[in-house]
Amino acid sequence: MSEWLQCVTCGHRYDANEIRYTCDHDGGLLSVERDHIIDRDAFDDRRSSRAPIDQSGVWRFREGVLNVDKAVTHPEGGTRLYERNGLLFKHEGENPTGSFKDRGMTVAVTQAVRLGATAVACASTGNTSASLAAYAAQAGLRAIVFVPAGKISSGKLAQTLAYGATCLAIRGDFDAAMRLVREACERFGIYLVNSINPFRIEGQKTIIWELLQDLDWEAPDWIVVPAGNLGNTSAFGKALREAHAAGWIARMPRLASIQACGANPFFRSFTEGFAKRHVVTAETIATAIRIGDPVSHDKAVAAIRDTNGIVEEVTDDELMAAKRTIDGMGLGCEPASATTLAGVEKLRAKGVMKDGERTVCVLTGHILKDPEANYRAENVIEIDATMDAVARALR
Ligand code: F0G
Repeated sequence: MSEWLQCVTCGHRYDANEIRYTCDHDGGLLSVERDHIIDRDAFDDRRSSRAPIDQSGVWRFREGVLNVDKAVTHPEGGTRLYERNGLLFKHEGENPTGSFKDRGMTVAVTQAVRLGATAVACASTGNTSASLAAYAAQAGLRAIVFVPAGKISSGKLAQTLAYGATCLAIRGDFDAAMRLVREACERFGIYLVNSINPFRIEGQKTIIWELLQDLDWEAPDWIVVPAGNLGNTSAFGKALREAHAAGWIARMPRLASIQACGANPFFRSFTEGFAKRHVVTAETIATAIRIGDPVSHDKAVAAIRDTNGIVEEVTDDELMAAKRTIDGMGLGCEPASATTLAGVEKLRAKGVMKDGERTVCVLTGHILKDPEANYRAENVIEIDATMDAVARALR
């Protein structure tokens, strides 16, 4: 069983154990490819296995992720699928560090250890950095994170620092941090674990595979995902292509990738039939997806094309209203995750999505990730410590 890296634009192949993120010939993104056929029955059997590696919702699918018998695993994945108001929600905030990033990170850090790296780095809006910090701590690697100063939530920053990462707070936005970390990794020989690293994408595919398994391999009509740096959109497309090619599912679901209006380069490109790539200066309350120049653009275009997918945008007001709905169902999520429900509402109003279609929203981050976005002053009544005051307040 072999695995290799392949350029998504020119098809050139590289050894899987080379440290590289782009193609020498045309600068294209790389993806992990393999030549073995995978039988999904093994994945189902492992759900009742007691072996530690099978407890992971990533490594349960290892033949299609990275073929190892030893992994840096928490374990992660195994997130629940909730049905509420006729929609399904897969809550990736239930991962060990509170976001979907752990699925890609367990694979990238496992690969870092295999390659003999001593330090790992990423640029981040907060969740990747927290995840990297946790997995690097577990593996005993030095973690260095590049974050836009003052533009990530206090919860994510505190979490990243607590796990022990060195944090470079960049005076600039995420896109500047991303450019800088790529150069720094090259210069200082640090292993880069942003989603430009193809092993991250391999791990993130398991959100879809686990979801399909949860649905007993009956594909839903729609899968809805927030879109920032476009790693997840890319991973979802690859996961669906591979599941369909292997015969695990009989038909392709459609992907709906949702951006915030203030950070919508992918949406702009979609409306022009992907004729050109856009770069914007990003601004949105959903700091996780405050990204103007998404790294995985080319792979995400393929994901939308191959799934007959769609890209939509929602305003900050729309996504915050959707967050209140999700929070009010007792599920809860961070603002970026709520673009999914806001997107569904918009696409239903446009008649693109129909009532009765089986639709899964992927909630990418936990409600506690962004404390600032949660505080609802209208629900707090400060009173004197008397029963009279209690009675008045509850009237
Ligand atoms: N939702 C959340 C909660 C995120 O943290 C991110 C990305 C996304 C959605 C978008 O996913 O980038 O794959 O399109 N967060 C990255 C980070 C950028 O650094 O934590 P994407």
